[in-house]
Amino acid sequence: SSDSAFVNEPDTDFSIAANRRWIQGQLQAWRERPMFTVPVIAAGETVTTPAEGVGIDPSDPERPIYEWVQADVATVDAAVEASADAGKLWQSTTLAERKAVLFQVAAALSAARGQLVACMSYDGGKTVAEADTEVSEAVDYARWYALNTDQLVRLESDGISFRPYGTVVVASPWNFPLAIAAGGVLSSLAAGSAVILKPAPETVATGWLFAEACWAGGVPRDVLQFVPCADDDAGRRLITHPGVDAVILTGAWATARMFLGWRPDLRLHAETSGKNALVITAAADLDAAVADLVRSAFGHAGQKCSAASLGIIEASVYDDPRFRRQLSDAVRTLVPGPSWNPRTTMGPLIRPPEGALDAALHGLDPGESWLVEPVQVGNSSYLWSPGVKLGVQPGSSFHLTECFGPVLGLMRAADLDQAIAWQNQTEYGLTAGLHSLDPLEIAKWRDSVEAGNLYVNRSITGAIVRRQPFGGWKRSSFGPGAKAGGPNYVSTLGTWQVAAARS
Ligand code: SER
Repeated sequence: SSDSAFVNEPDTDFSIAANRRWIQGQLQAWRERPMFTVPVIAAGETVTTPAEGVGIDPSDPERPIYEWVQADVATVDAAVEASADAGKLWQSTTLAERKAVLFQVAAALSAARGQLVACMSYDGGKTVAEADTEVSEAVDYARWYALNTDQLVRLESDGISFRPYGTVVVASPWNFPLAIAAGGVLSSLAAGSAVILKPAPETVATGWLFAEACWAGGVPRDVLQFVPCADDDAGRRLITHPGVDAVILTGAWATARMFLGWRPDLRLHAETSGKNALVITAAADLDAAVADLVRSAFGHAGQKCSAASLGIIEASVYDDPRFRRQLSDAVRTLVPGPSWNPRTTMGPLIRPPEGALDAALHGLDPGESWLVEPVQVGNSSYLWSPGVKLGVQPGSSFHLTECFGPVLGLMRAADLDQAIAWQNQTEYGLTAGLHSLDPLEIAKWRDSVEAGNLYVNRSITGAIVRRQPFGGWKRSSFGPGAKAGGPNYVSTLGTWQVAAARS
């Protein structure tokens, strides 16, 4: 079956000196690369002017590293038109043909690993380790969704057939510029749809390299078109164009709502915001719990929809000076800095803090105090050290609002019941964690937590394709709710039809 044929792609082992030298070479090549232009590739054309967008390195934001062409409304229209014919052709390929192409895409992504890691490090502020993991995830999606085509065959029985969407727009985020673009694009290609990729304006170069890998793997250029555009009229046209059958979005809840406001009948498959908590009870292995809390809160500087921005801690642990000491020591060992510096363990923000994140970095609400105060590192408003605040109050803004950055807030819970109630109090439901070695606590928690991905005695970020299919509920998700990297995602990207005849 597809499951037994699937093996997760391993990350690079950077404890091996040769691998460290290899990635240093890749980073250096990227650093020395002269300014370049990322084109729009649509309707059989490569458009290289005017390049009005600017790609910057968030670790060194004064330095533009590339320019990119912003598709206009006419280009969007031409892309959607080209997609209609391409979609028909792609749909008529056999599942075996599409599967073969996706395996070739996996190979192309794997071959481009070094380049992709270096690109993400400069383009998206990802540390080398985080970027490397992302390449593995993208390769996993290619192989997993290729094998998922078997699922379509199994589900199609007499008279019931699957008709994929004709054209899917994938609007991918800057925080996982490769893996999440890959998830949306490759699942749609597996289903038989033509795809228009609109990368986040912050990480256009990574989206381009990904598209290049797809084309190198044999995806026709009109079956996957690359249409970066600003979030303006052209971006809106891409969502509202009647020739677009569905949109796969990963982004903020408000963005999903905005799309639906523009187009109430839009078939939207969206992963949206989160406000995720990890609960630690008195029955936890404290060493493991602290390590997982720090990893979940500060990976990619907290800029993950899956990140833990709350630790809900049972009172006896919360009050224990050893716990606070251990946590603050662990947080202080993080090394904030430029993402391409191999010593760095926490990279920059994608942009200077604003809104809820700005408030969280700069101020405390009643009852709160700093265990570790975050500070700006050097002159760059993009670079911050991690912060941990105590005394977050139930119902407060920090308890309930997503802030998407390197601030962790701790809440003191009387017992597990209270912890669960607070964990469920937010409007979101993406990830949730529990650290406890008590089987009764684990069972109770699993039965009552309102989130899509529940993690026990593990960090709450870094879902692995097939092993932890990913996706939320409540305000963290729109659409049929199939999990990315799970068994049924591909089969939701279209319509199931029954053709019955009088017998
Ligand atoms: N899939 C990522 C994670 O699990 C988030 O998008 O962390």
